[in-house]
Amino acid sequence: MVSKTRFWYPFILLMFLCAGAAMDTIRPGNHLNSSTTVVSVGEMFELGFFQPTDSEHYYVGIWYKNIKEDPVVWIANRDYPVTASAFFGISDDGNLEIKQGRIIYRVTDMTLPNANVSAKLLDSGNLILRDENSSILWQSFDFPSHTYLPGMKLGYDTRIQSTWSYVSWKSSNDPSPGNFTLKLDSGPEKQIMILNGDAIYWRSIRSWGDSSNYFEFPVETRLNMYNFSFVSESDTAYLTYNIYRNDTISRFTIDATGQLRQLLWLDNEWSVLNSQPGQPCEVYAYCGANSSCSNVSSPICSCLPGYKPSSVEFWNNGDFKEGCSRKNELQCGKNDGFHMLTKVILPQKQLTREVQSFGDCRSSCLSNCSCSGFSYTDRNCSIWTGELINLQQLPVNNSSGTDFYLKLAATDLETKKSSSNMRRAVIVSVTVTMTVFTSAFCFWQVKVKRDKRKGQDLLSFEVTMSPSHTQEEQCKGRWQVEHEKEVEIPLFSFSSVSAATDNFSFSNKLGEGGFGPVYKGKLLKGDEVAVKRLSRQSGQGWDELKNEAILIGKLQHKNLVKVLGCCIERDEKILIYEYLPNKSLDTLLFGTNAMVTLPWKTRVRIIEGIAQGLLYLHQYSRVQIIHRDLKASNILLDEDMNPKISDFGMARIFGGTEQRATKRIVGTYGYMAPEYALQGVFSVKSDVFSFGVLLLEILSGKRNTGFYLSNSLDLIGYAWDLWTSKRPLEFINPETHDAYCPIAATRYMNIALLCVEERAANRPIMSDVVMMLNNELTVLPSPVQPAFSNARNVQDSSQSIPETSQNKLTISVIAAR
Ligand SMILES: *[C@@H]1O[C@H](CO)[C@@H](O)[C@H](O)[C@H]1NC(C)=O
Ligand SMILES: *[C@@H]1O[C@H](CO)[C@@H](O)[C@H](O)[C@H]1NC(C)=O
Ligand SMILES: *[C@@H]1O[C@H](CO)[C@@H](O)[C@H](O)[C@H]1NC(C)=O
Ligand SMILES: *[C@@H]1O[C@H](CO)[C@@H](O)[C@H](O)[C@H]1NC(C)=O
Ligand SMILES: *[C@@H]1O[C@H](CO)[C@@H](O)[C@H](O)[C@H]1NC(C)=O
Ligand SMILES: *[C@@H]1O[C@H](CO)[C@@H](O)[C@H](O)[C@H]1NC(C)=O
Ligand SMILES: *[C@@H]1O[C@H](CO)[C@@H](O)[C@H](O)[C@H]1NC(C)=O
Ligand SMILES: *[C@@H]1O[C@H](CO)[C@@H](O)[C@H](O)[C@H]1NC(C)=O
Ligand SMILES: *[C@@H]1O[C@H](CO)[C@@H](O)[C@H](O)[C@H]1NC(C)=O
Ligand SMILES: *[C@@H]1O[C@H](CO)[C@@H](O)[C@H](O)[C@H]1NC(C)=O
Ligand SMILES: *[C@@H]1O[C@H](CO)[C@@H](O)[C@H](O)[C@H]1NC(C)=O
Ligand SMILES: *[C@@H]1O[C@H](CO)[C@@H](O)[C@H](O)[C@H]1NC(C)=O
Repeated sequence: MVSKTRFWYPFILLMFLCAGAAMDTIRPGNHLNSSTTVVSVGEMFELGFFQPTDSEHYYVGIWYKNIKEDPVVWIANRDYPVTASAFFGISDDGNLEIKQGRIIYRVTDMTLPNANVSAKLLDSGNLILRDENSSILWQSFDFPSHTYLPGMKLGYDTRIQSTWSYVSWKSSNDPSPGNFTLKLDSGPEKQIMILNGDAIYWRSIRSWGDSSNYFEFPVETRLNMYNFSFVSESDTAYLTYNIYRNDTISRFTIDATGQLRQLLWLDNEWSVLNSQPGQPCEVYAYCGANSSCSNVSSPICSCLPGYKPSSVEFWNNGDFKEGCSRKNELQCGKNDGFHMLTKVILPQKQLTREVQSFGDCRSSCLSNCSCSGFSYTDRNCSIWTGELINLQQLPVNNSSGTDFYLKLAATDLETKKSSSNMRRAVIVSVTVTMTVFTSAFCFWQVKVKRDKRKGQDLLSFEVTMSPSHTQEEQCKGRWQVEHEKEVEIPLFSFSSVSAATDNFSFSNKLGEGGFGPVYKGKLLKGDEVAVKRLSRQSGQGWDELKNEAILIGKLQHKNLVKVLGCCIERDEKILIYEYLPNKSLDTLLFGTNAMVTLPWKTRVRIIEGIAQGLLYLHQYSRVQIIHRDLKASNILLDEDMNPKISDFGMARIFGGTEQRATKRIVGTYGYMAPEYALQGVFSVKSDVFSFGVLLLEILSGKRNTGFYLSNSLDLIGYAWDLWTSKRPLEFINPETHDAYCPIAATRYMNIALLCVEERAANRPIMSDVVMMLNNELTVLPSPVQPAFSNARNVQDSSQSIPETSQNKLTISVIAAR
């Protein structure tokens, strides 16, 4: 865990403590010469003259008393070295000064009313100058050198014109100020940065400005030694820390090579716990502008696509600072396009704002001539203008990183295409002399590889070519396992999906479900598809997600909406479905302008279809799928009014299959089984509950939730009331009285009430439900009082709402969609 690096900064510490005369304070009149020192009370630190190895210079400094290896933590006169004949002490006017015959360096320069001051070295390593009343006039902690000790600050205070920043030594034996400065950026982002001269050399990835408690400092925190605190007010901002145990010796230094190191004194040597920058790619602008850095490639810098080295000569000699410039200037208009880079750590200096969709983000970059690229995550649209600094390319097998869309001139985008076309042409022409078979094989391989990486073009996809379910249609509701052949569902490219939906334009939006918005997509041949763009909460990796999507794509049943393919490109997870023009069941059942009342026959067909689809998901598909959000709006109807369940398998994609209980409750109030709504426990029986509610809604033509909210009984309670008072037929939607069969209707109501029983164990499974629906001879059990219906008794008597009802309301808020 702790990498041990031995430092070799030996010093000749010239002076040793005068025997017995240990003192920690310098008073007016007593000076230190090159062989005397003061030592803090606890013998932690020592103050005096020291001479770096191989140097004839003497410096006044503070070092660890009992550490011989790289002990110096503070230097008074970095720029003003002296010789062995110098003295350090308090002058007549009360200031600290270094004298060598004459005054060489005034460490402090104050006008003091009273010269009776004293300088004391504390066990923290702080040298403080006090007046006779013990007020602190000056302290060495306010004038850091290269070591950031516990109790010191890193930051600034503009009120007192203080800046606490740390400057490296020039070299390991020259304490004069070097090239590197560790400081806190005074901008709004409050990043910790290392400057090389005036140029940024490194900066902490995350800024501290935005969230009060979060901070990122390159600290090995596993040892839990530090108590960091960050103070940020209008004029002042600084980071300070202390160490919990007073016997731990640890510090941060900025060394002559620009490394910020976290050191711990352990087993008689300094162990490096952390060192930044960790690798060349983390050095700011190591590769110059408009390039990408990848520490696994060689050379580690390369120009971004569409860019070429600004100076080929320098670049080829490994000097990347000049960066890269465009091959072709942007047209600044319609002719520009984007090239996607995956798995990158984004360049610095972006502008982030919230947008509605990827398409909005893309077009805002396209419409701004100075935009050079964008990235889109979770409605956050980041736009980069001008040059791109510090873009890092991660290895393909790294799980982190984001997508970045680089804006290029059309000619550069085309060149990319035609160069691969050219490659193909070359392959073909070279193989002219070979057998046709071989060349065809090569060609095919190139194509297959491209397709694999890029995904297919949705626009030219033929809907009718997708696996069909004509077979099942012939079987009239029989579902068979056999049709689950090994069909690979197509993976489409994001750009083609985006094109089909006109950049996910609002006018193409069909609706918004809990898992994300649904858009209508138009293909080249005029076919229409539904495009569901999943929101980003899925915690899964690309591969698992793809597997799930493919698995769901393989589920083919006439009562499930057919999945035609998917598109998974980094953060985008999209499922492409068949498009059903006939709306969803809820608009037909409860829509205010419902033009047709569903005839009884249609209702029966819908009920049976849903039951079949659900049974297939629960029992006959390759893996058991619990829908978790079955409701009227998730039932779509085809032109023959056959019901098709949509949104199935979402729970799987959203990682909800393995655990039995989940913190994230997806579902819709009114359809959720009590054990799921209240405890998050779900099973096939929770779907059965939702089915029961749906069944009641289809029978009555009334919405379960609306019923509740109108402050009347809820639909389940109402059904139960009528059932127990033996008036079940009053429950049936009067509009359907045309040709309905009272026996069947009563039967359906009985089944529905069995499905909504409070105890999950008492509810039937879907195969039982299907059997009860189909077989009129089955004797049905009598239902017991269903879930949720107890609340009504209280409401009837206008008493306060009981606990369970309160819970119910709360949950409806959580899960509302
Ligand atoms: C430094 O001061 C001490 C005590 O005042 C004295 O003994 C010693 O000789 C001095 N050393 C030099 C090099 O002046
Ligand atoms: C200087 O101040 C100290 C207290 O800090 C006091 O004890 C001492 O007498 C003072 N000396 C003079 C000369 O005033
Ligand atoms: C110290 O305190 C005394 C009494 O409060 C005051 O008269 C004196 O001016 C103070 N000295 C300094 C240097 O502030
Ligand atoms: C510091 O900067 C100077 C001048 O730019 C350069 O010559 C020297 O090599 C730099 N030193 C280090 C350690 O980078
Ligand atoms: C951590 O530091 C803060 C501020 O310096 C201090 O108030 C707090 O007591 C410290 N906590 C511990 C556990 O030392
Ligand atoms: C550390 O703290 C302990 C307990 O508070 C104390 O006894 C000990 O003297 C301290 N050590 C140092 C070096 O300050
Ligand atoms: C590249 O970076 C990775 C992750 O930051 C690191 O594990 C690896 O050791 C680095 N490789 C080289 C050659 O520096
Ligand atoms: C990098 O690209 C940007 C945008 O095209 C351009 O403004 C800038 O001049 C380029 N930088 C270099 C060093 O060519
Ligand atoms: C382009 O974006 C930059 C940075 O966001 C902004 O300053 C500039 O005004 C924009 N230009 C146009 C034409 O919108
Ligand atoms: C999007 O921006 C918001 C607010 O700035 C932030 O809290 C959130 O973490 C961002 N999301 C992502 C995925 O970056
Ligand atoms: C990534 O791939 C490289 C080369 O194939 C391999 O050396 C490295 O160990 C892999 N890293 C991970 C985290 O799988
Ligand atoms: C992926 O890259 C990041 C950034 O360089 C690094 O911190 C992380 O360790 C890498 N992960 C793997 C598995 O290599």
